[in-house]
Amino acid sequence: MQKNKVYIETYGCQMNMADTELVQGILLKQGYELTENSNEAAVVLLNTCSIREKAEERIYGRLGNFKNVKQSNSNLVVGILGCMAERLRKDLIEEKKIVDLVVGPDEYRKLPELIDVAFNGGKGIGVQLSKTETYDDLIPYREDGLQAWISVMRGCDKFCTFCVVPFTRGRERSRSLNSIVEEIKHLSERGFREVTLLGQNVNSYSDNEYDFADLLAACAEVDPYLRIRFTTSHPKDLSDKLLYTIYGHQNICNYIHLPFQSGSNKILEAMNRTYTIEHYLELINKAKKIIPNVSFSTDIIAGFPTETKEDHQMTLDVLRKVRYDGAYMFKYSPREGTKAYKMNDDVSEEIKVKRLQEIIDLQHQISLEKNNEQIDTEEIILIEGYSRKSNDNLAGRTDGNKVVIIPFDEKIKTGSYVKVKINRATSGTLFGEFIDFYDVKSNLAVTV
Ligand code: 5AD
Ligand code: SF4
Repeated sequence: MQKNKVYIETYGCQMNMADTELVQGILLKQGYELTENSNEAAVVLLNTCSIREKAEERIYGRLGNFKNVKQSNSNLVVGILGCMAERLRKDLIEEKKIVDLVVGPDEYRKLPELIDVAFNGGKGIGVQLSKTETYDDLIPYREDGLQAWISVMRGCDKFCTFCVVPFTRGRERSRSLNSIVEEIKHLSERGFREVTLLGQNVNSYSDNEYDFADLLAACAEVDPYLRIRFTTSHPKDLSDKLLYTIYGHQNICNYIHLPFQSGSNKILEAMNRTYTIEHYLELINKAKKIIPNVSFSTDIIAGFPTETKEDHQMTLDVLRKVRYDGAYMFKYSPREGTKAYKMNDDVSEEIKVKRLQEIIDLQHQISLEKNNEQIDTEEIILIEGYSRKSNDNLAGRTDGNKVVIIPFDEKIKTGSYVKVKINRATSGTLFGEFIDFYDVKSNLAVTV
């Protein structure tokens, strides 16, 4: 064990992945080294997620492992970062006495001094939420690669009744457009090919007179070979201007993650989602008209309090109508401190499981049908490297975020755009063959 080695595990959403990079940037600046081997670390940090009970249970399990390690190595500093730090600070430090360090999402600047407190035998605690902290001036640590996350805003003011995020991540605040664009310029110079702009509700982004559509346009103009993605959009705030901005820039991906949560207006109201399903479907139709070939993904919760069989059918109907390319599907999990926690969790576990399975099965079938429709069509993909399963294949991604596998060919380099023909499909993956290189800037095939 070396005193300056830090090991970090990250759980939960992409915001947490981006926060881990931020934390790594802060610690490297202070002279710490990163390690991927927890056995040689002096500091073990878990960047945690509270969104559902299962996520927290998993992390408690992992903490149990480190508690054992601590028995033979009492100098090891174990810390909790992120949403669980905010939600369970007392439990973690005072009652369960498992950790030495509890640091919430808005206090990462203090991490070096809080680690020192822990090294000196104290408890390092930083759990204040901030109305202004955006870490705008800090540079996250990123290994070289193709794809990067950039947090453009933090927190959420929506207060969906099921969700802990407004409590664990605090109020909405945005980074400055200029610093985001500067960060993207650096990434482009380092050879990155894709950036995903992150926020709990990116459509509320605001920097003086600039809104999210302005930010997207400014990011897209940095480098035509750099793809821009973004997540998450809230159906209440998705503007026409944003849709036209996506349409107007070839390198802003035609892909919108638009959670609907439930197909029933009664449930949407109980969730405080602030839109009706009719509004949602109109928005989808409008986006399909403005952006040809637009793809959608979504989030769905099964078994929210008072959900009936009919409400559940309405959710399945939305899946059939929209035909999403992908969906993140969850069983409702009551979270202490939220408004829904006070509602009677009256859908039994058995029914939640059954409804969730029906949603998953239907979406699976739709994904397969949609992917089969792609057979014999041509797609432009960005080559990401070898496929996960074999070095005989390369993997790339379409603008619509679908993975395409093609046979390895040494003339095709990671980071190049190629035109492929799709030959085969499963519900999760397309398989194709190389046709040509492709210059996305001039939208032309380049014959080699
Ligand atoms: N139970 C189940 N799913 C939840 N989500 C958020 N809170 C809960 C909860 N208490 C889901 C929502 C959200 C996604 C990030 O996680 O679908 O869009
Ligand atoms: Fe949670 Fe709703 Fe905010 Fe998303 S929009 S983070 S679901 S409160």
